[in-house]
Amino acid sequence: MATAAASQLFVPPYPPRSDKPRGALSTILTLRRNPIEIWAQAHFDRPILIGRSILGLRAAAHDPAAVRRIFLDNAANYRKDDLQLRILSPGLGNGLVTADGESWRLQRRSLAPLFSPRAVADFAPAMQGVAATTVERLSRRRDGAVADVGELMSRIALEVLEQTLFSQGLGREVSEFQRAVTEYFDSFGRLDPLDLLGAPAFLPRFGRRRGRPALKFFDSVVDSVIDNRKRLLDGGGDAPRDLLTPLLEAKDPETGRGLPGADIRANIVTFIFAGHETTANGLTWSLYLLSQAADWRQRAEEEASHVFDPARPSSFEDCEVLRAVFEEALRLYPPAAALSRQAIADDEILGVPIPAGTVISISPYVLHRRPNLWTNPDAFDPSRFLRANRDRIDRFAYIPFGAGPRVCIGMPFSLQEAIIILANLLRTYRFELVEGQEVAPQQRITLRPRRGLRMHVKRREST
Ligand code: HEM
Repeated sequence: MATAAASQLFVPPYPPRSDKPRGALSTILTLRRNPIEIWAQAHFDRPILIGRSILGLRAAAHDPAAVRRIFLDNAANYRKDDLQLRILSPGLGNGLVTADGESWRLQRRSLAPLFSPRAVADFAPAMQGVAATTVERLSRRRDGAVADVGELMSRIALEVLEQTLFSQGLGREVSEFQRAVTEYFDSFGRLDPLDLLGAPAFLPRFGRRRGRPALKFFDSVVDSVIDNRKRLLDGGGDAPRDLLTPLLEAKDPETGRGLPGADIRANIVTFIFAGHETTANGLTWSLYLLSQAADWRQRAEEEASHVFDPARPSSFEDCEVLRAVFEEALRLYPPAAALSRQAIADDEILGVPIPAGTVISISPYVLHRRPNLWTNPDAFDPSRFLRANRDRIDRFAYIPFGAGPRVCIGMPFSLQEAIIILANLLRTYRFELVEGQEVAPQQRITLRPRRGLRMHVKRREST
């Protein structure tokens, strides 16, 4: 699938893969430190592995046919597992990411129109506005000044949410969100040994105390989002077309009941979390990868300058190089690097019996780097995603946004946003890595550079 010679390709950093399975203690320590390091060579070589470990009966499935069975063909038999829910639910409550059954169906059906192709296209001017403001803001800094690109991207992605899904704003400083999200990820996102061992929920998890201020912060954000909406409606204003309106108007077609208030609140937090940190990470990795591959950087810059037209943001659709770069970044560093499900009833996958209760890990990170599915799997080669090659990728070999009924509802939103932002930034600036910086992926719910990413932001005309 790759077209460039292997020797010219940049191979970005990834954790070493052990040759043999880890013992119990090493498993716990690795999952706590950096879960991406848990994958052994066998996971990349074998389509499915199953066995009993300290975590109970676990399987790892990294084959397109297995992915299709779990996420699509037999999706009703695979629910989100308890460990995943224990990590996500304190923040995300019973929102769209964590809900199940009828509650999930009602939420998904109510929110789907907001993410239809037409509705997402209507968000393009708002995304362009945020990108242009960022370019302008950067122009006030010294040429070549160093920026923490992870922070910059999450600021942009939050501002996009404020201009689209939360049309009355979020009412807080972006830096406050950044602090709260980091606090949450560093506490709830760090696997607790008690959870790994399946200890009962009433036993206190001391590592989580650090995350409580973040939960309080999100509670207060939700209060102000809902109060602002009430004030607008009480004052006779029209309900804007944003996230809150379909949530407030949702009705179960059979019972006529609306969504409980707690689920509405949960979705406000869910969309703040799911809607910015993931795209921001994909953008951060894209800029890093481009900084290390001069040929692709040149192609991306040329496209940003000559194909994208800021006066017509829908021209992002013609930017196939920028899209390919972003998709390749999501292949190498999928922001949602670990997906998992638990079998409700017995099943069989690729001829392997899967007893009821088995927890199955499906890591996009592993799947995206399997040597039998990808040429030069660890190398940065966006050409695999150019139009001429894109159709050759199996739908179930590339799942940065998941698959099946629970596929990411924000996928088209995120792709559009990412291309518009990259186009705007690369038209004017070149991002160069600050020398001597060690870049390594770290998984804390999402996959981000361990110590952030510091880059010089140089005006292109001066490079
Ligand atoms: C690069 C950006 C993104 C990535 C990589 C990503 C990844 C994913 C993945 C893998 C899932 C499926 C999880 C599973 O099956 O267990 C998912 C679900 C979800 N995503 Fe995204 N996402 C991104 C952007 C967004 C955006 C921009 C939004 C909102 C504006 C969003 C909202 C959601 C929601 C609400 C769900 C749950 C859908 C459901 O279960 O029905 N995501 N995302």
